[in-house]
Amino acid sequence: MNCHAKGSAASDESLKADILRLKKDKKAVILAHYYVDGAIQDIADFVGDSLALAQKAATAASDAEIIVMCGVNFMGETVKLLCPDKKVLVPDTDAGCSLADSCPADSFEAFVKAHPGYTVISYVNTTVGVKALSDVLVTSGNARKIVDSFPADAKLIFGPDRNLGAYINSVTGREMLLWDGACHVHERFSAEKLVELKALHPDAPVLVHPECRRPVVLLADKVGSTAALLEYALASDATEFIVATESGILHQMRKAAPDKTFIPVPPSDSTCACNDCAYMKLNTLAKLRDCLVAEAPEVHIDPVLAEKALRPINRMLELSK
Ligand code: 13P
Ligand code: SF4
Repeated sequence: MNCHAKGSAASDESLKADILRLKKDKKAVILAHYYVDGAIQDIADFVGDSLALAQKAATAASDAEIIVMCGVNFMGETVKLLCPDKKVLVPDTDAGCSLADSCPADSFEAFVKAHPGYTVISYVNTTVGVKALSDVLVTSGNARKIVDSFPADAKLIFGPDRNLGAYINSVTGREMLLWDGACHVHERFSAEKLVELKALHPDAPVLVHPECRRPVVLLADKVGSTAALLEYALASDATEFIVATESGILHQMRKAAPDKTFIPVPPSDSTCACNDCAYMKLNTLAKLRDCLVAEAPEVHIDPVLAEKALRPINRMLELSK
């Protein structure tokens, strides 16, 4: 069962036709994260994980005049930081992120100041204010590589996701200081539910996003970003997979491998079979159409903050090559 409401097939078709026409007329390009609704993924020019979306934006999304980022606010901000001369739109400015919210910039600044001599590594799922306090950013797709690029004895702060930070500490042997933040969607997965599913599907590899808690990560056959989990499923000989991340990725998995079965891990506190990020699901075809018509809401970032926040993004892109 999918928890979020869908429009009728007929109205979706008419919205898609409007979006395609507006996109062409306005020289717009649509970027979408794997967690948004499947209908939006299908109409987007580019669908990817946070790293791929940032890399795409860094190429200024070709000759587009408008970039619509269907995801959450920090993704729209990352695109704007990388493409300051483009008009960057988001379909719904209420699309926040519980992980970004778990790390207010003023508190993070106090934490950083309390630990002089530390290099600050932040997950891209942060506000512009936190990015501006960071030495380098990471996504779940490049965190290990970037952490590994620092000397073994480097003193590192990692924020805001304590689960991703703990996972990177475990695979790199580091003892990074972790900010105590988390994503409410990934924290809802429990090892108990996952063990129950594994008993029912003993041959299915378990795919886990590193934003999940440690007991869930320990049960994984593959831990990785959404793109890495997709890639693993496509390359594997297995025919069914247990998936512990936001449900939107299932659309892309089923589309790319229609003969394989993808089984979502249910959240621990619900009978629903999927685990949606309510923020991601605020992106709808109707809002996408409306934002192309109005050329709003547009992402604006204070230029002084933008200059500081862009540096760690560029450093991340450089180190990811
Ligand atoms: P990735 O896109 O790096 O897999 O991260 C998932 C996520 O939670 C984005 O908000
Ligand atoms: Fe933020 Fe979690 Fe939603 Fe990703 S899934 S956007 S980390 S709340």
